[in-house]
Amino acid sequence: MALAPNTPAPAAGLTTTAAPFIEEARAHREIYIHQPYELYSEDNQATWGRLLVRMQDRWMRYANRRYLEGLDKLQLSPARIPHLDEINRFLQPLTGFVARAVTGYVPSYLFLDCLRRREFPTTVTIRDGAHLEYLPEPDIFHDVAGHVPMHTDPAFAAALVRFGDCAAAAARRASAIADQHEKLRRLTSNIRAMSRFFWFSVEFGLMRAAPAGEADDRDRFKVYGSGLLSSFGEIAHAIKSPKVERRPFEIAQVVNQTFEIDHYQPLLFVVDSFDHLFEVVSELEQWMLAGKLDDVAPGEPEVKEADLASFLAAKHD
Ligand SMILES: [Fe+2]
Repeated sequence: MALAPNTPAPAAGLTTTAAPFIEEARAHREIYIHQPYELYSEDNQATWGRLLVRMQDRWMRYANRRYLEGLDKLQLSPARIPHLDEINRFLQPLTGFVARAVTGYVPSYLFLDCLRRREFPTTVTIRDGAHLEYLPEPDIFHDVAGHVPMHTDPAFAAALVRFGDCAAAAARRASAIADQHEKLRRLTSNIRAMSRFFWFSVEFGLMRAAPAGEADDRDRFKVYGSGLLSSFGEIAHAIKSPKVERRPFEIAQVVNQTFEIDHYQPLLFVVDSFDHLFEVVSELEQWMLAGKLDDVAPGEPEVKEADLASFLAAKHD
């Protein structure tokens, strides 16, 4: 079919929300794909380089030490978008984790079950170069430069696996509830609790770097959350802004805390270390099994039908 005059040609390349390859895979309901590397356009490659270069100083100043070590191990280059195979050659021997290409959104049980198998669902598209800063969808910069360096740390990697265990516990519990209405009600609450916990740790977590009074604010906290590590503006805001409240990480608060994704976070939670993070994720599973996540506060995030369905269809052990 010929395009009408003035209709823009479909964008080529692997630009987020405008990648025909991804649209077609989604139309076929594919979730796991290969990284179609040859489809990246010159613009896509240039966008990657600009994103990576402008973050260097920010990372040196605000990122957690383990993140910086991970970044060093992965040897990301501004010259080109990384091949996931190459990343995995560095990553897998360290913690067993691999980056696995996906078409985009992965229903939450499948996502967390991947973590349990030490596979990280990784977006292969890259944001439009005209909008470097804000993007509601993940892209390869967020996933590979924001998340993957953390996966080189054994304690952090173990905490991700515990998220997967937690999801399996929720699916197992739900399958034992006969009353359909009650099953869905509890599962919705459990999924909401896990999403909030994931958001305030893996995506937007801060870590204590020095005791209060011993350093100025810039040095008291470091960033380990990937949403912050992939945001040029928010990484500095999270550490420096007096408008951000930074609280110690308490499960009871975190699982009841709503969040919105379309503006900088006004409230962040602080863990002491990755061993601490691992402990609290393990504790989350205990809370789940004890029924303490069955009535968390309503509100954001919304639990999608597809997320519920993924838990109900789970093949758990
Ligand atoms: Fe993320």
